[in-house]
Amino acid sequence: MAEDIKKGLLGIVVDETEVSKVMPEINSLTYRGYAAQDLCAKCKFEEVAYLILNGELPSEKQLKDFEKVERKERNLSKTLLESIKNFPKKSHPMDVARTAVSIMGLEDKETKDNSPEANLRKVMRIFAKTPVALAAFYRIRKGKKIIKPKSNLSFSENFFYMCFGRVPEKEIVKAFDVSLILYAEHSFNVSTFTARTITSSLSDIHGAITGAIASLKGPLHGGANEEVMHMMNKIKKPENALNWINNALDQKAVVMGFGHRVYKSGDSRVPTMREYFSKVAKVKKDKKFEKIYDIVEKVMIERKNIHPNVDYPTGPTYHLMGFDTDFFTPIFVISRITGWSAHILEQHAANKLIRPLASYKGNSYRKVIPINQR
Ligand code: CMC
Repeated sequence: MAEDIKKGLLGIVVDETEVSKVMPEINSLTYRGYAAQDLCAKCKFEEVAYLILNGELPSEKQLKDFEKVERKERNLSKTLLESIKNFPKKSHPMDVARTAVSIMGLEDKETKDNSPEANLRKVMRIFAKTPVALAAFYRIRKGKKIIKPKSNLSFSENFFYMCFGRVPEKEIVKAFDVSLILYAEHSFNVSTFTARTITSSLSDIHGAITGAIASLKGPLHGGANEEVMHMMNKIKKPENALNWINNALDQKAVVMGFGHRVYKSGDSRVPTMREYFSKVAKVKKDKKFEKIYDIVEKVMIERKNIHPNVDYPTGPTYHLMGFDTDFFTPIFVISRITGWSAHILEQHAANKLIRPLASYKGNSYRKVIPINQR
């Protein structure tokens, strides 16, 4: 008799977590009990990063100390910088992020130490250095000079500065900060589960984050924000949107940026990100993508009752900010490092090797025939 298979672990609860939850009573994603949209309204990204990693919102002094460490760690070793310079220019930046974190693991003096204290120190290094590595690649592949990080800039300001050589308008920085807050954590999604699975064999944090980045790259997960932009570029102008989406649905296409394993009637992060997408479009005086956005969303809800997920508004928002499309998912990485790390720490604190079973459907038992008789 076939076992009861739960493909994709659909509906299976595999462990407990204190990091985040989608709370049905407020219909919202919460981090450590706080609604993500409330955090977007009242906090900067660094406060939320602190909250996710440490369990509580920081006091002013705690935030200052946290920022001091993050800013101090914003430097890359010569080896890492030289490696990035030698990466193929056509590499996907997600592969650059993955390889950069892996190289950080080769260099970190505490790689083998899985104590919570050492892991938190390593998190701060990965958290601070990954954006620097990505921005360096952003410049190098365009044949531009690398811009060193500035310690008087916030996490978000510094990322813009290292990529573009300037900090944009404050509305743009706030929208970016909001996107990082919304991307920071989402319970047992694919990449977080990957990180926890790697951790469960008592492997190290660099390995777990490297694996999580590989997992996030896929278009069914983080890669969707890039696919949304490819879709919008194919649609080209609002006048084409209605036909395009109707044709796509007639052909039973999966429309990127829509649907979610957990939210079935709308991702709670979308209204906040939609609002900031609009603010960015206003600053950039470019409403084209907003119009396409609204038409596609309306048809998806009317015809399929499928709502957008957070990757739908972030895609065009990052485009309007000036980022290359293949940098959208790496931006997700620099934020989600916080969520992954909190889960890695939690996994270590109450570890059980993750090792599910499979229902075997291969050949029945047979004897090996020596090669000269096959
Ligand atoms: N476009 C068209 N149809 C869809 C979509 C979509 N985006 N999403 C779900 N459906 C349909 C699907 O075809 C299926 O129909 P049927 O029952 O007739 O076969 C039904 O809805 C259920 O979908 P599912 O794929 O079985 O649901 P799931 O929970 O396994 O998948 C998902 C969730 C996110 C993988 C899926 O909705 C999808 O592929 N979305 C597009 C990719 C995407 O936007 N991913 C980002 C996810 S959220 C943020 C993140 O993780 O980065």
